Amino acid sequence: MCGIIGRIGSGNALDHLLTGLENLEYRGYDSAGVAVQNGAGIEVRKRSGRVSELEETIDAPEGRVGIGHTRWSTHGPPTDENAHPHTDATEDVAVVHNGIVENHADLRNRLADRGHDFTSDTDTEVIPHLVQANLDAGFDNEGAFRRAVEELEGSYAVAVMIAGDHTIYAARSGSPLVVGVDDDAGEYYLASDVPAFLEYTDRVVYLEDGDVAIIGPDGADFTDLAGEPVPRTPETIDWDPEQAGKGEYDHFMLKEIYEQPTSLAQAVEGRIDDGIDLEEFPPGAFEGIDRVQFVACGTSYHAAMYGALSLTQAGVDARALLANEYGASSPPVDDRTLVVAVTQSGETADTLSALRRAVRKGARTVTVTNVVGSTAAREADDSLLIRAGPEIGVAATKTFSSQAVALTLLAGRIVEDALAGDGLSDLDSLLAAADRLPGDIERVLTESDAAEIARRYRDSRSYFFLGRGQGYPVALEGALKFKEITYEHAEGFASGELKHGPLALVTEETPVFTVFTGIEDDRTLANAEEAATRGAPVIAICPADHPAADVADAHLEIPETDPRLAGLLANVQLQLLSYHAAELLDRPIDKPRNLAKSVTVE
Ligand code: AGP
Repeated sequence: MCGIIGRIGSGNALDHLLTGLENLEYRGYDSAGVAVQNGAGIEVRKRSGRVSELEETIDAPEGRVGIGHTRWSTHGPPTDENAHPHTDATEDVAVVHNGIVENHADLRNRLADRGHDFTSDTDTEVIPHLVQANLDAGFDNEGAFRRAVEELEGSYAVAVMIAGDHTIYAARSGSPLVVGVDDDAGEYYLASDVPAFLEYTDRVVYLEDGDVAIIGPDGADFTDLAGEPVPRTPETIDWDPEQAGKGEYDHFMLKEIYEQPTSLAQAVEGRIDDGIDLEEFPPGAFEGIDRVQFVACGTSYHAAMYGALSLTQAGVDARALLANEYGASSPPVDDRTLVVAVTQSGETADTLSALRRAVRKGARTVTVTNVVGSTAAREADDSLLIRAGPEIGVAATKTFSSQAVALTLLAGRIVEDALAGDGLSDLDSLLAAADRLPGDIERVLTESDAAEIARRYRDSRSYFFLGRGQGYPVALEGALKFKEITYEHAEGFASGELKHGPLALVTEETPVFTVFTGIEDDRTLANAEEAATRGAPVIAICPADHPAADVADAHLEIPETDPRLAGLLANVQLQLLSYHAAELLDRPIDKPRNLAKSVTVE
């Protein structure tokens, strides 16, 4: 977890650092801090709380070179002392770090024996002390940094400044790090993610595990830990800075919900024609695969369930598994197993761990992700981009729909190979629906009554979500979104499960949002009526002329479409419902309490 930034250029670094940290707050917002380098040495300003609080309370230290950090706590509570940057006792070395130093206790004990005093509970604090110890032992600055990094076990994206040296020393292993390059302006950046500096440059170099970047006023050099040069050339990112800002919307989440017509058009662009055409996976790419396992967490797990259904409905052996249960459940894996890691960030530790387990077991692996160059994309045999553009709101919205569509297309390709030529049934209907999807979503966004429904049921005790087939993961996702941003109790169920226990919870204070996709809808309607009989208000999410629209207490309309994509239209209604309910409760929608966008610890 955590976001780090570094900047070298002309003028004062502080504004760039603070802007970058604000753009990285989706990675954590327990504390924030900066360190800048000037003639007086290194000046550190840090505190618990958000970047805006840091900004309001600090004076403006000046310097051309600086590093900054926004924290999601792992070791030690979110206090001023535990905020980054951390320094050694002389304050000549400042460090920001994302990741976990697993051997920090051993290192701390060893350094303490040599007289080093520590002032925080963090694992990170050992790093400036290690660098300082190496400087004391006679190493030059670069040597002191490299030797310190060599001693670290665990995961890190780390940036180090040393007093009097206008250089940022950086290294990555297991946590993301990207360098931004603007040679014309003589400005160089370093960050956990591109939005941190996207308004200044779109030229980036993604560091790989084991890379060291030494960034000075004249540019960046890339080597391995031993100092051997590694070839890293900048690539141009095609996200524009506007995309990374909130624009006219009050929240990133709302903006991202409204971006879905565009993001879904991007997800299918060039991938559907007469059939499914994935340039990454030509016909035959999945020959020899007879079992598919999807591994993912949270919203991505719901998208994985969605993808797995397309396969099982076509007769292919497929399962979606929670990545954090993958080791414990130990499902059979061999070289005929395809393991698909579904992760928008590509950095979720649980998912990476499941992916690595699959690699060890000899599976063929694919990552479905939003982030080019992410760890999961690099560690899998192949990857498929969902092309959703940056998602800043902690609650995933547009990435869910783009994942579900990308996985449905991927499933279509797998089916063709696994069933030796037979593709998905009614492929033409699916492809036509995929082509219409952006327009259908636009219609839902324009005509939705979700704000009114959120108001009507705002005083309820619990919120239930039901669905069947592809409607089931959508019900789970609807409930996850609702609880995540409203802090109200919400649960998703397979429609038919309600009568096996949860019905005991149903009262007139538990609205039941029921998703109808066209798959066994008569049964789903019967399940919703079981709840209505016990007094629960039923809100049907279905097309206008659907039988459920007449019997339900309220109706959220979706256009008629192929059952395999109808759930994504219903999902947009549920996203809007959660958003408006959270707004009525005045919740911090983009940054719900206790959560972070990218969960890089297991
Ligand atoms: C969803 O709103 C959450 N932010 C969370 O469940 C998220 O989907 C999960 O942590 C997985 O993230 P990933 O897609 O980046 O792997």
